[in-house]
Amino acid sequence: MAPATTDRIRDVNIRYHDLAAADYDAKWGIDYGEVGQGQVLGKVRKALVEPRTLLVHFLREQLLLTGTHIGCDTSQCGACTVLVDGRSAKSCTMFAVQADGSTVTTIEGLEKGGRLHPVQEAFLEVGALQCGYCTPGMIMSSVALLVKTPDPTADEISRLMEGNVCRCGTYPRIVAAIGKAAKVMKGGAK
Ligand code: FES
Ligand code: FES
Repeated sequence: MAPATTDRIRDVNIRYHDLAAADYDAKWGIDYGEVGQGQVLGKVRKALVEPRTLLVHFLREQLLLTGTHIGCDTSQCGACTVLVDGRSAKSCTMFAVQADGSTVTTIEGLEKGGRLHPVQEAFLEVGALQCGYCTPGMIMSSVALLVKTPDPTADEISRLMEGNVCRCGTYPRIVAAIGKAAKVMKGGAK
């Protein structure tokens, strides 16, 4: 629906989900620190949004990036987790205008050249899902977790992932998948 008045519209300019191939080196070492400094090339998407538009609605409805899910809309479940300048963020708790000028990475942006991100591969190999509704948010939180904590214990994974809820209760396999991805990203055996 068109906004009622143009004076309530903001021009939002977001770099989204298209991380440069250089970020995906042989070890999948992704230096998200560079993203915040604008050294990573990404597609810039520009759109007009109302100030009240949540980031998750902007991604899903205006950019048609529907891999980011809405579970609760109240910052409880983590299904809407994306990376904003490399940090995990629940996109139902942010306005789109707050991401203006940021680099936003959604689940669609993890795969590169037909290669899944190691976290995605680990989720598949371990079967860390049942219905899959929580999975995009789980994976985005896992990626952020492994950037900050590359060698987490199972207890650390459980604690650091507490903002993501799986209604199917696949937590043990999610923890196992994150541990497996950590080994792959460190160059260890699969
Ligand atoms: S939809 Fe955002 S935390 Fe649940
Ligand atoms: S796999 Fe169904 S909610 Fe997590």
